[in-house]
Amino acid sequence: MGGIPMDEGGPVPQYLTIASIGARGDGIAETPEGLVYVPFSAPGDVVQALVERSGKDSFKDRNKGALRAEVLEIIELSPQRQQPACVHFGKCGGCALQHLAPAPYADWIKARITMALAHHGLEGAPVGEPFITPPASRRRMALKARWGQKTGGGRLLLGFNARASHTLIDLAECPVSRPELVALFEPLRALLGEILPVENQCSVHLTATRPGVAMLLGWAEEPDLVLRERLAVFAREEKLAALWLDIEGDLEPIVEMAKPVIEVSGVEIPLPPGAFAQATAEGEAALVTAALEAMAGAEHVADLFAGIGTFTLPLAGAARVHAVEGEKRLLDALVAGANNAAPGVKTVTSEHRDLFRRPLTAEELNRFAAVLFDPPRAGAKAQVAELANSGVPLVVAVSCNPNTFARDARTLVDGGYEIESILPVDQFLWSSHVELLAVFRR
Ligand SMILES: C[S@@+](CC[C@H](N)C(=O)[O-])C[C@H]1O[C@@H](n2cnc3c(N)ncnc32)[C@H](O)[C@@H]1O
Repeated sequence: MGGIPMDEGGPVPQYLTIASIGARGDGIAETPEGLVYVPFSAPGDVVQALVERSGKDSFKDRNKGALRAEVLEIIELSPQRQQPACVHFGKCGGCALQHLAPAPYADWIKARITMALAHHGLEGAPVGEPFITPPASRRRMALKARWGQKTGGGRLLLGFNARASHTLIDLAECPVSRPELVALFEPLRALLGEILPVENQCSVHLTATRPGVAMLLGWAEEPDLVLRERLAVFAREEKLAALWLDIEGDLEPIVEMAKPVIEVSGVEIPLPPGAFAQATAEGEAALVTAALEAMAGAEHVADLFAGIGTFTLPLAGAARVHAVEGEKRLLDALVAGANNAAPGVKTVTSEHRDLFRRPLTAEELNRFAAVLFDPPRAGAKAQVAELANSGVPLVVAVSCNPNTFARDARTLVDGGYEIESILPVDQFLWSSHVELLAVFRR
């Protein structure tokens, strides 16, 4: 491997041709110096760029030492491009791939999963056509707010971080998110402009629920009466379902105009403040439909990492379900949802358990005809080790991280399972996050 072309003033511009797109959505150029990562480029682009090796202190760069390019000029535009949907694209860290036309975008999603599996020796897995959620469907947003300048006259900024940076992009729009969330940007800027101390910053979690938007505001200190009243007025004016404060982990309700609930398969599930819900209703429906299809006919099943019961309750239409979840308040919401469910629903049993430390053992698993697991990004290493030793004939894996999924799939395959199908479900439109549902049988 040679060095990066330099003169005494630093790196000199180079011409690069983009060959492919990597796991984090950056274009990749193959050069004699090694792979160069070029953000916001498409296969077939020819660019003039400055190439640098990312330093050890580069923010959030898990690939320290990788070659990265700053594009000076696009010399040739790839036919795989489309017009990006958002004015902030290219600066905002939320999206990486808005510039890619639908067909190469779908190919990239499949390749992302195929490459992760190949890394674990699982070539040739049956990765199907992705289900891609439409724009304006994301129902959860985690925004940040702070002042643009520390001294008077600064503008209150509300948005996402720029890519690999602490810089906050002040969002005017967000075409991936539900319109009722985007409609709150301006009122929120006005509110926070009044109440956020100049030296503070805060987080704003918005979730579109059935009766309206639920808002969780990360706040530095206990609110006084004046602030509580101001927040309650805001909630009423903006017709929020609920407004809660998160004061260093302590959740405090300010106003609850209507109980925030989301509806899964016709069942209403109460949503605790800031709780996990699938990112889009459309993606959730695709995942649930695929799970129901795969598990049809199984009479007693387990839903591991069950959360508020997104899979439990639909599955309970036809099977007895044992739901296991590590966060108590989510399990409580699941039980409340099961109690609201229609009379035809089968028995739901629930268990509060840390599945990283205390996975269901092979012996415990053997009473189920099928097991679904939907872990956080870290995957389900300990749990799949037990599944691999079990006799459970059908396992359904839902994952939002192809890398940990591929590691866990390897364990299942080594334990005697075959991968029957993999359905990519793109719930994070135009970002580099990919979700999937995989069916394993033995
Ligand atoms: C990706 S979410 C899926 C939730 C649910 N299946 C759904 O679709 O709404 C992962 C879930 O795993 C839970 N979890 C995280 N770590 C856990 C652990 N060590 N043991 C049990 N559950 C855990 C989280 O609280 C969260 O509910």
